[in-house]
Amino acid sequence: MMSPYSVVSASALLVSLLSSPVAAQLHTLCNPLEKDCPPDPALGTAHTFNFNSTPPSGTFNTTAGEVKYDKDTGAAFTIAKQGYSPTLTSNFYFFFGRTEVIMKAAPGQGIISSIVWKSDDLDEVDWEFLGSKPGEASTNYFGKDRRDNTNAGYHPVEGGVQADFHNYTSVWTKEKLEWHLDGKLIRTLLPKDANNTDNYPQTPMMLSIGIWAGGDPGQPKGTIEWAGGPTDFDAGPYTMHVKSARVEDFSKGTEYSYGDRTGKWDSIKIKEPEKNSTAIENINRPPPEPEKSVGEKWDALPSSTKSGVFAAAGGVGALAIIALLVYYFRQRSRGQKEAARYAAEQEAERQELEQFRKEGRDPDALEHEATEYNPRAMGAGPNFSSYSAVPNDHERSNSLNSMDVPEKAAAAWDPTSSGGAAPTGHMPLLTHDPDAAPQRSNTFDGRAPQSPSQYAPEPPRSNTLR
Ligand SMILES: *[C@@H]1O[C@H](CO)[C@@H](O)[C@H](O)[C@H]1NC(C)=O
Ligand SMILES: *[C@@H]1O[C@H](CO)[C@@H](O)[C@H](O)[C@H]1NC(C)=O
Ligand SMILES: *[C@@H]1O[C@H](CO)[C@@H](O)[C@H](O)[C@H]1NC(C)=O
Ligand SMILES: *[C@@H]1O[C@H](CO)[C@@H](O)[C@H](O)[C@H]1NC(C)=O
Repeated sequence: MMSPYSVVSASALLVSLLSSPVAAQLHTLCNPLEKDCPPDPALGTAHTFNFNSTPPSGTFNTTAGEVKYDKDTGAAFTIAKQGYSPTLTSNFYFFFGRTEVIMKAAPGQGIISSIVWKSDDLDEVDWEFLGSKPGEASTNYFGKDRRDNTNAGYHPVEGGVQADFHNYTSVWTKEKLEWHLDGKLIRTLLPKDANNTDNYPQTPMMLSIGIWAGGDPGQPKGTIEWAGGPTDFDAGPYTMHVKSARVEDFSKGTEYSYGDRTGKWDSIKIKEPEKNSTAIENINRPPPEPEKSVGEKWDALPSSTKSGVFAAAGGVGALAIIALLVYYFRQRSRGQKEAARYAAEQEAERQELEQFRKEGRDPDALEHEATEYNPRAMGAGPNFSSYSAVPNDHERSNSLNSMDVPEKAAAAWDPTSSGGAAPTGHMPLLTHDPDAAPQRSNTFDGRAPQSPSQYAPEPPRSNTLR
């Protein structure tokens, strides 16, 4: 039975998460090119995460806002206010692999919907959708955080990226990186074309799906321009929807780690390829049973117990039970009142801080903040159409030698059974003036929740989350 006071503690927890600046800074990025870093937990399998309900516990972290799950429209990532950038980041990594994300991008000037792969040494593979460019998807990659503005590709999307769900798939081996749009190969990157292999993404990646405001007035000017202009937060909310994400790890093991400081794929060590990863355990763990109501608990009691209770309730017992029930309900309403009072206090405090900020008192002390809390399941219907997997299940290597793995994976994986021809070169169908593209500040660094200020000289000021 829910304790009368858990109402208070739950809302207190929520408020403290919303106002806590530490939640965002739990993890500092450790760059394995500079020092020894903790190993990366592996995915070590292939799995389709259907966002008709909350993903299995432990598989993804939600940062910088709330992600809501709906059985028809999937995961909703909403920017309702300045400072929000809800993001799902995998707790697992894949070392060469494939993701297939079925999503609908958000509208809104300056709003960026994105699918990002990021590694610890900041190799990156992206799909990005600008709210002000409803007819276009962009693809990008970076090696070792070298922010080369000429890497981006721009691709027209029939029907528009905001009107409909589309299939954004990326396939990655050590031989090539491919982006597929609705089943069509639209871009291929070969290692030799990425700074002669050095900027080719080649280290274990995590998947981050999220939305952020490149047009936040707190962003650097260049970022705002790149994002399509300043965001009008009053015209929102802006929402992107993701139905599902299939993620395949082409390696199998429990952990991946960097064997040296080169950031080269053949330096990556794969641990325990014969064992199941924590991610596999998380995926296979049955979901927790929903808390039973008092009535359900009563119904579940064996009838002998029930008649015992009835017998005891006869006479004086009945009075005692009634008294207890009255007490319980009174406590519960007291709890709710206290929760309301607590929330009001927090709001007053927030407004006070806001006032300080408006008066220009130490505004820079208010760094961009993110919150972290578990979204609640919004629906868990099993009736969500699950996308049939393609030639997904490829051969797993059981070899400890990491060099073997991508080789086999590459050989086993044929993403384009139709044999779609690679475009000539890896350049985009449409090209934007690279000079107009500033250093971008998409910052799914995974460890620290994505904060658009990562690469920005000046952090955006969140005036909503404090
Ligand atoms: C998405 O595209 C990939 C690559 O073309 C394809 O293998 C896969 O079946 C597609 N997924 C869905 C759900 O249509
Ligand atoms: C290309 O790689 C070399 C190291 O091999 C690095 O020093 C250089 O900065 C890279 N160039 C670019 C444009 O990223
Ligand atoms: C690994 O997980 C699979 C289910 O995905 C299970 O059938 C198998 O027994 C597990 N293997 C080990 C070694 O635990
Ligand atoms: C996700 O959250 C858990 C618990 O707070 C933490 O241990 C883990 O490192 C986080 N993972 C990422 C990728 O941020």
